[in-house]
Amino acid sequence: MGVGTEVRRVAAPDGARLREVRLAALADAPRAFWQTFDGESARPLDDWHRRAARGAAGDAHAMFLLERDGEPVGMIDVHRPSMAPEFRELAAMWVAPAARATGAADLLIGAALDWARSVGAVGVRLWVEVANLAAQRAYRRHGFQQIGGPDRDHADPAGKSYLLMALPLSPETAASPTFLARASAPWTDESA
Ligand SMILES: CC(C)(COP(=O)(O)OP(=O)(O)OC[C@H]1O[C@@H](n2cnc3c(N)ncnc32)[C@H](O)[C@@H]1OP(=O)(O)O)[C@@H](O)C(=O)NCCC(=O)NCCS
Repeated sequence: MGVGTEVRRVAAPDGARLREVRLAALADAPRAFWQTFDGESARPLDDWHRRAARGAAGDAHAMFLLERDGEPVGMIDVHRPSMAPEFRELAAMWVAPAARATGAADLLIGAALDWARSVGAVGVRLWVEVANLAAQRAYRRHGFQQIGGPDRDHADPAGKSYLLMALPLSPETAASPTFLARASAPWTDESA
């Protein structure tokens, strides 16, 4: 990455910045996410302040911003899924087109994995759209493997389908016979 590019955890006052980068992601890559630009842009600013505060502290939820010369050019969300609380789940990864193919995704994924390790998660999981090969390649480079899917999102008029990928964070977890079942616990919407 170029000079002046960094990843940092979102801070409580970053609500407006978080809204800006998330809406840019949804406008740029609607095929990559289950949430929609219309739905998210209709949310009041208070929701974004609450989300920023939630992502700024604690071991349940973290969001990281990618900034170039102080301007937001990417993000990632990593949170504790209620059906698989010993895991953390990656979501909402985005890198602005001008910042792609520079190692930016590696910075975001690396920050999320470091945080998941620091809070004692046994593994990290994520859903990725079947046609999203750029994201899948980035995740595989960090050791993620497909463990489920493709699962069609029947509520989605665009008919997107998702693969489930997971990464154990220790050799003991990787060897556990229950790892796949635990990582495959159902997805629930925990973005609000
Ligand atoms: C997925 C995404 C974050 C990757 O960001 P990035 O910084 O370009 O990541 P990388 O540089 O690691 O590129 C990932 C792979 O995609 C490839 N790639 C990068 N830009 C590409 C492009 N414009 N077209 C096709 N492939 C591309 C890279 O070659 C790399 O593959 P490789 O490992 O074989 O070299 C970015 O493309 C993006 O924001 N996409 C839209 C949102 C999205 O899909 N989010 C993920 C939701 S699960």
